[in-house]
Amino acid sequence: MSSRRGSRVYNCVVVVICIALFIRLSVIFCWTPYCKSVLQSTLSNDHSSNMSSLRVVSSKLAAQIDQELMGPKIGFTLQQLMELAGLSVAEAVQREFPPAATRKGVLIVAGPGNNGGDGLVCARHLKLFGYDPVVYYPKRSSRTEFYGQLVKQLDFFNVPVLSETENWTQYLNPDRTLCVVDAIFGFSFKPPMREPFAEIIKRLHAVQESVPIVAVDIPTGWDVDAGPVEKPHLTPKVFVSLTAPKPCTNHIDPAKTVHYVGGRFIPQEFAQQHGFEQFDYKGVNQILKL
Ligand SMILES: *[C@@H]1O[C@H](CO)[C@@H](O)[C@H](O)[C@H]1NC(C)=O
Ligand SMILES: *[C@@H]1O[C@H](CO)[C@@H](O)[C@H](O)[C@H]1NC(C)=O
Repeated sequence: MSSRRGSRVYNCVVVVICIALFIRLSVIFCWTPYCKSVLQSTLSNDHSSNMSSLRVVSSKLAAQIDQELMGPKIGFTLQQLMELAGLSVAEAVQREFPPAATRKGVLIVAGPGNNGGDGLVCARHLKLFGYDPVVYYPKRSSRTEFYGQLVKQLDFFNVPVLSETENWTQYLNPDRTLCVVDAIFGFSFKPPMREPFAEIIKRLHAVQESVPIVAVDIPTGWDVDAGPVEKPHLTPKVFVSLTAPKPCTNHIDPAKTVHYVGGRFIPQEFAQQHGFEQFDYKGVNQILKL
């Protein structure tokens, strides 16, 4: 009995060695350009033809790109970029947390600035995708009329927008909420974290294992370059970099976080001119898993 088991193990080992040899040999004897290119794209993640192009852009370059996009030569408006950003994040939510018949809640926590604006847009798209989004928007900016218009659109779509005094923590309940979209602070965050956001982060941190977090561009409390600087810091389950990943994404633990790039704002030539990767989005997709 035991010798039969032994010979089965032996057979298994032989098969494994044969497979390994076959892979090894096919690498050595794969010398035609076509064969090489197929092999390269199977073995590595890098589908770009320009091997020197960067997956991560510096915060300085990222700021410069934003300025150029909204500058006189290219002529995007902030609102347009926000619309595409919010749509990308909604698509990432849909990809990772598809709505179920009994569970389709998403809590969006929106900060006072542009990151919050992305969240307000995201909430509207999530409603169209079949979710029951709820927005917590404790500090509303009156700096531009635009944020108020985004809130009116949410009213139009019957998406509740909670103010500071309302009970938002009831939505931190895994029985009804699939995930939380962290649209509080992003690129421009500088410590220290002020209230009410310090308390909000504490609450989100306490439940992030059961109610996963989707980060918009930069998780709240992370530094664009240095990564997690505040304590406690959020560890998002889903990280959506906009335009291109910033240096803080080097702190992502792939075992804990799924990383997407989103925000299809630029043509391939522009990426190439600036020396970063031309992300290979497929068809109508607004996001690409990295
Ligand atoms: C908010 O709602 C939850 C769940 O219904 C409840 O446990 C909690 O005490 C409420 N918090 C406040 C401040 O009312
Ligand atoms: C790759 O990117 C670099 C940096 O922008 C650029 O100088 C170079 O011409 C590119 N090479 C190719 C083959 O596209």
